[in-house]
Amino acid sequence: MSGIVAGKLAFVTGAGSGIGRAVCQKLAKEGATVVAADLNAKRASETVALLEGSDHLSLAVDVVSPNSINEAFVSVLQHYPKPPTLVVNSAGITRDNYFLKLSETDYDQVLDVNLKGTFLVTQIAVKAMINAEVSNGGSVVNLASIVGKLGNLGQSNYCASKAGVEGFTRGACIDLAKFGVRINAVLPGFIRTQMTDIVPEHIKTILIAKTAAGRMGTPDEIAEVVAFLCSNKSSFVNGASIDVTGGFF
Ligand SMILES: NC(=O)c1ccc[n+]([C@@H]2O[C@H](COP(=O)([O-])OP(=O)(O)OC[C@H]3O[C@@H](n4cnc5c(N)ncnc54)[C@H](O)[C@@H]3O)[C@@H](O)[C@H]2O)c1
Repeated sequence: MSGIVAGKLAFVTGAGSGIGRAVCQKLAKEGATVVAADLNAKRASETVALLEGSDHLSLAVDVVSPNSINEAFVSVLQHYPKPPTLVVNSAGITRDNYFLKLSETDYDQVLDVNLKGTFLVTQIAVKAMINAEVSNGGSVVNLASIVGKLGNLGQSNYCASKAGVEGFTRGACIDLAKFGVRINAVLPGFIRTQMTDIVPEHIKTILIAKTAAGRMGTPDEIAEVVAFLCSNKSSFVNGASIDVTGGFF
């Protein structure tokens, strides 16, 4: 199969919905074999049913649990001869509330899934690559958010987690370069997915007004950039944060 990631094995979290699902579809279209991982196993298997090509795998994974991620990698290595060299961290949650009403639980959960989950998956995946001596040419792509840079009403926990993902990406880039692994962050703007379906209409109107393109983005428009960062076409892009917002100010 031809394509910019032909012959590669990809591990995608948050693969059951939105951006993660679109990334799985794009990577498969570009020739990769995809492991679609999500907390929701049924949605992950529905994603695999949508993919071009064969031998894709769906797995139930909780990115806040090292045990769950390690078990997933055991399953992956039972299924494929080598571990994945492409990793996309798209699992994410929101627990929005005005700052003075934000509970410690909602703060911790968002930081755990969005930031710690990204760290745990990346570390376990890169260790597997290094152990199997396939790390050279590896690529990790983390879904951060433009609001980590700009802030957003009622999202101080989410903004902190996504700013953290950018910092994590820049720090890890320096450590991972010697193994031939690149790591970058994509910062989506306001994208039409299950995550944003729950945003009240009047807030949607405000967010679209802040977008120069005058509309929400689609998951496919994010997946295009993620696929580029996974591929060798971006071989000198490392530790970067790339806005994909339609111009969000
Ligand atoms: N939609 C947007 O406008 C937007 C904007 C900026 C950034 N992002 C980021 O992009 C990523 C994807 O967002 P989306 O809009 O596709 O969201 P989504 O809600 O459609 O999908 C997120 C997926 O993550 C999974 N997930 C949640 N917790 C998990 C866990 N602990 N372990 C494994 N999987 C888990 C969910 O089951 C879901 O399938 C997220 O990190 C999000 O923060 C989205």
